Amino acid sequence: PTVAVFFGGRSVEQPVSCASGSGVAKALRERGFDVTAIGITRTGEWVELPSDAAFAIDAAEALPEVTAETGKAVAVDLGPGAQPIADIAFPVLHGPYGEDGTIQGLFEMADLPYVGSGVLSSSLSMDKEFSKRLLAAEDVPQGAFAVLKPGEALDAHAVIDKLGLPIFVKPARAGSSLGISKVKSAAELTEAVAKAREVDDKVVFEASFEDVREIEMGVLETLDGDLEITFPLEVLAMGEEGWFDFDAKYLDNPEPFNLHPDYPEGVAERAQELARKVFRLLDCRDLARVDCFLAPDGTVYLNEVNTMPGLTPMSGVPQAFAAAGVSYGDLVERLVTLAAS
Ligand code: DAL
Ligand code: MG
Repeated sequence: PTVAVFFGGRSVEQPVSCASGSGVAKALRERGFDVTAIGITRTGEWVELPSDAAFAIDAAEALPEVTAETGKAVAVDLGPGAQPIADIAFPVLHGPYGEDGTIQGLFEMADLPYVGSGVLSSSLSMDKEFSKRLLAAEDVPQGAFAVLKPGEALDAHAVIDKLGLPIFVKPARAGSSLGISKVKSAAELTEAVAKAREVDDKVVFEASFEDVREIEMGVLETLDGDLEITFPLEVLAMGEEGWFDFDAKYLDNPEPFNLHPDYPEGVAERAQELARKVFRLLDCRDLARVDCFLAPDGTVYLNEVNTMPGLTPMSGVPQAFAAAGVSYGDLVERLVTLAAS
């Protein structure tokens, strides 16, 4: 099948998407697929990128970005009766306008099969408020949280009374750790909310777990509808403030993960069971990454679900699957096959 790979996008995760999407496009071409790479600029223009367009995150360079100059402007007609742009769309987009159900809705309208979760599942998983509320109702173990709705004034004392300190302050709908702060005092909370609100008007506060290990699993659907879940890898790279921030993820560490960590008896299986349950509860499709915390007493808590996880060479999902014998090329080819089936 022909595949239209979309990357870049309007969210703050544009550079990560550029690295993920250009990697996907290249791997699919190497597998013999006829690929059109469509870049989306920060302001929402669509440009067709040359077939050799490469975007990598390199600590020494400026972060990659699709701009109007990177390719040639395209007007993709997705209306009724239009010639389809490809047999399959592969939105390798992170964050709002890509991982949140919006572009998925466009593909549904156009009857264009696409890789990844559907409209509701994408928007639920992107929204840390609603995913937490839904999963709490299903008794999924997770940390305490509070929400500051768009436009709502911060009541710092109420938040600290409920969650204690330190607190993670996060934009409700974003990723790649952008806009996040770890706050250790009431005085820092106002500034942290302002920083999160530069990314999203809605803010989520999370109680911080102390002494936990951060673990992540890739989840891939099989053609018969079962799930293949990787061994949970452990996040080793921590930023200056002691958590897995953007620099720790992409800039400072050539190997941010341990792919073969030692866990106490039963932990890996329990984590995989949780990943399976959460993938199903959120109606995810094709793939996801499930991020968890492992507490010293062996309890596995959910952190969050990413419906279009980072697919850069240094990202967790490609590495976890490679460790399980599924190469990057196999992974992206399987995703296109799933979408086509
Ligand atoms: N949101 C980033 C891309 C991730 O989940 O890896
Ligand atoms: Mg995320």
